[in-house]
Amino acid sequence: MKVLHIASECYPLIKTGGLADVLGALPWAQAQSGADVRVVLPYYPAVAELLPKAQPIDELHTFAGTIILREASYQGLSLYLLDAAHLFARHGNPYHNADYQDYPDNVYRFAALAWVGASLAAGLDQRWGRADVLHAHDWQAGLACAYISHWRVRLKTVFTVHNLAYQGLFAAWHLTELDLPSSMFAIEGLEFHGQLSMLKAGLYYADEITTVSQSYAQEITDKMYGYGLHGLLQHRAAQGRLHGILNGIDPKIWAPETDPYIAQNYSRVKTLKHKTESKYALQQRFGLSEDANKLLLVMVSRLTEQKGADILLEALPRILSDQDVQFVLLGSGEPSLSEAFARLAADYPQQVGVHIGYDEALAHQLIAGGDVIVVPSRFEPCGLTQLYGMAYGTLPLVRHVGGLGDSVRDGQTGFVFHQANAEDLFEAYQRVRTRWDKPRSWQYAQRQAMAEDFAWANAAQRYLELYAQ
Ligand code: ADP
Ligand code: GLC
Repeated sequence: MKVLHIASECYPLIKTGGLADVLGALPWAQAQSGADVRVVLPYYPAVAELLPKAQPIDELHTFAGTIILREASYQGLSLYLLDAAHLFARHGNPYHNADYQDYPDNVYRFAALAWVGASLAAGLDQRWGRADVLHAHDWQAGLACAYISHWRVRLKTVFTVHNLAYQGLFAAWHLTELDLPSSMFAIEGLEFHGQLSMLKAGLYYADEITTVSQSYAQEITDKMYGYGLHGLLQHRAAQGRLHGILNGIDPKIWAPETDPYIAQNYSRVKTLKHKTESKYALQQRFGLSEDANKLLLVMVSRLTEQKGADILLEALPRILSDQDVQFVLLGSGEPSLSEAFARLAADYPQQVGVHIGYDEALAHQLIAGGDVIVVPSRFEPCGLTQLYGMAYGTLPLVRHVGGLGDSVRDGQTGFVFHQANAEDLFEAYQRVRTRWDKPRSWQYAQRQAMAEDFAWANAAQRYLELYAQ
């Protein structure tokens, strides 16, 4: 089975969030199961730095200008890379500039990614031939499903929704520039409230749609989580075309036994006590008192409305009225939230540490060093930090939504609250606090969490079954 993934991120080459973690692991796990898997990505500067020797294999003259197609192999994974400096040679975040302003030419940048991906799936690289399945991820790759439909290529397309909130909306007049027929600009097509929606292109034209948890597959058929697309999603669900497959953990990257970023490696049974070394290191780094008995809460997150950091901010003064509790945040995103956390750190210098920015090593150190990882999301397609938390014996405190509710067992592998407000969060936190005072019971929960099986092999197998079907 030949599978071509199209995406805008892939760890460790380029990452802004969980999408990258998935693309860094799923194709690899599928290859382990015997599939012939390739991934198409833009050749951003960060990618070029890690893969300077990617070989040019073709020169494409497209609606978005000339693109050099390169190929490379990275840790056993075969990649196709779009080298086009005018589109992708931008440092930092792949979607927006340092002021959080989307690049004005995103429509061409990601239409080009989709077009090249679709062309490759259709057999552009004659040595590889045509793919059996094109697997497009999120809005950046959505148009690939439209191209395959328009060209009537005989292959199957799967579109995975990692986040319905980001839709890739652009002015309608771009459509014909992108080599797509104006007939596609319809309700039964990729039109969305008078605009072109790259996300809807994926949802409408893909043969099968998947989401990254089962609950999210249901939630997005509801008005509350459907961003106006719930009608289409209900229809696709009724056709049996909407499936939820929970993400996994890449044990090469996220395992306390081997993690190179943490103070001391540890494991579930014999060396769990060494987890405390990571706690001390974290406390030291943030100038908090080095004390194993303090309850240390952590959060690692993009700071956006989705993640509910504001809900936690509202609850924190009550939580921190207990001097034996500490909190450390690693996050970046909306300036108003960053500033609020910076103020919190200034108000509670003995108890709170805040690092605003993006730092892969530090993310591992928080996840290993914390006692509890808080994920209070308003919605969460899957969520990975709660999975990582469990693998590291750092118990998740999460809201019951999307993949959070699907992965955390309340009172057994973590703590779950229901309403998106500070009251509910605080109520669940009190259960955390009570449990913390019973070390044996806490350790039991840690061991249960660490024993959970979130191996990618399971998810990879489910995708392969879907392709086969
Ligand atoms: P999302 O993709 O919605 O941001 P996920 O929980 O699926 O949420 O994935 C987030 C990923 O990004 C995790 O690997 C997490 O460790 C990482 N991450 C989030 N914020 C930061 C940060 N500020 N620095 C480093 N890694 C981060
Ligand atoms: C998105 C979602 C997150 C999910 C990730 C990987 O970024 O917000 O919940 O874990 O994609 O699928």
